[in-house]
Amino acid sequence: MKHIDLKQIVCDKSYIGKTVDVCGWVRTSRDSKNVAFAELNDGSMLEHVQVVFDKAVFANADELSAMLSLGAALAVTGKVERGMKNESVEILAEKATLLGGSDSTYPLQKKRHTMEFLRTIPHLRVRTNTFNAVFRVRSELSYAIHKFFHENGYYYVHSPIITGSDCEGAGEVFKVTTIGYDPSVKSEDEYNKKDFFGRPAGLTVSGQLEGEVMATALGKIYTFGPTFRAENSNTPRHAAEFWQIEPEVAFADIDDIIGIATDMIKSIIAHLLEHCAAELKFFDERFEPGLIKKLQHVVDSEFARIDYKDAIEVLKKSGKTFVYPVEWGLDLQTEHERYLTDEYFKKPVFVVNYPRAIKSFYMKQNPDGVTVAATDLLVPGVGEIIGCSEREADYDKLLAEIKSRGMKLSDYANYLDLRKFGTVPHSGFGLGLERMMMYVTGMSNIRDTVEFPRTKDELR
Ligand code: 4AD
Ligand code: MG
Repeated sequence: MKHIDLKQIVCDKSYIGKTVDVCGWVRTSRDSKNVAFAELNDGSMLEHVQVVFDKAVFANADELSAMLSLGAALAVTGKVERGMKNESVEILAEKATLLGGSDSTYPLQKKRHTMEFLRTIPHLRVRTNTFNAVFRVRSELSYAIHKFFHENGYYYVHSPIITGSDCEGAGEVFKVTTIGYDPSVKSEDEYNKKDFFGRPAGLTVSGQLEGEVMATALGKIYTFGPTFRAENSNTPRHAAEFWQIEPEVAFADIDDIIGIATDMIKSIIAHLLEHCAAELKFFDERFEPGLIKKLQHVVDSEFARIDYKDAIEVLKKSGKTFVYPVEWGLDLQTEHERYLTDEYFKKPVFVVNYPRAIKSFYMKQNPDGVTVAATDLLVPGVGEIIGCSEREADYDKLLAEIKSRGMKLSDYANYLDLRKFGTVPHSGFGLGLERMMMYVTGMSNIRDTVEFPRTKDELR
């Protein structure tokens, strides 16, 4: 269809006085004796453009009333004029076509809806200002991530979605199977042999293991794709399907990778401040007062860094009563992470050198024998957004770790080979895209950062 984006006529004042063809959906409308108004949005920007209908031109009242229905889709030809508000433009309609009508059952009527209600209409909520802004930021954020890695010499690699191993070893893998219930199958082994791959298969929880394969030939790589976890926890920060960005870097130790993660976070936030100014201002006003200042501060200041054992001491001395115990050897819970970031550091913090027993098998063992060269990046308001580590590059140590955790050796034979042939120090991390979205938009629930959230008992 011949038309131009509303963004173009708003941003380029040379359109004033010209006749244009535009399309969009009616967001709000007003009717009065001689004129009617419809605010049109076509998704090209947060702002709406007002279309003015002169009733002398649009004599057919039925037709005009259908065009003023909230949610209706219109194509309008008209002259661009300077609007009433500063810098705004409006369109004086000469001709308009109703592309798709709407009616009073359209769920997005004028009142402000709760986020909970909007989650029940995932197919329509993107037509609200909030979700229009969320998904524009998500697109720009993804672009900024690709841009950062591309400009720094990384290759974008595609790790498989169906895998035969559990990277994190947390037993949260969704099964992939083509066989239903079959009472004639006598054992798990028989069932697996009959199944599509002839062995157990699942949806990947992380592209890291394949990422390491690629990094030990290409040097610097990153993955960017969906990952899946059958986590039984119904929290505002956990999704069953989420996107992860996982760089893997050869010839890099834990300090190198912490530097890379810091540069990446700063770079993508700076990009958003520049390219999503209107959206961030909207979130700052409606969802998280001070959001822009917070993000600017992240770009301008150093991230904090604390050893896990010192973090435990900080928590013990906090004077707070936590629900979960604080003890060396126990994992940090959300309440602990939130205290460290929201109250103690008030900025992003890397917690480094976690106890080996609570972390994954692949992490490099520190000389003390009880901790690993691993770090989580925690941020105020969200908690963990990055899980990061130097990988165990020593064949014998890795083999012993896999065995001691009771993992199936044959599943990790190729992975062990990387330590047999030309092993090198290497490190990587995983950034959760939706957690990052929560941080940059102020959305307090992960369900509001992804188009179609998949969480426990929820699949719309
Ligand atoms: O800390 P995780 O489990 O680390 C890994 O998967 C490593 N293999 C990454 C690597 O080193 N290549 O997950 C990484 C990040 C978390 O910090 C969090 O941001 C996100 O993924 N994440 C989730 N996001 C939403 N819902 C969930 N259930 C998530 N689980 C992890
Ligand atoms: Mg983690």
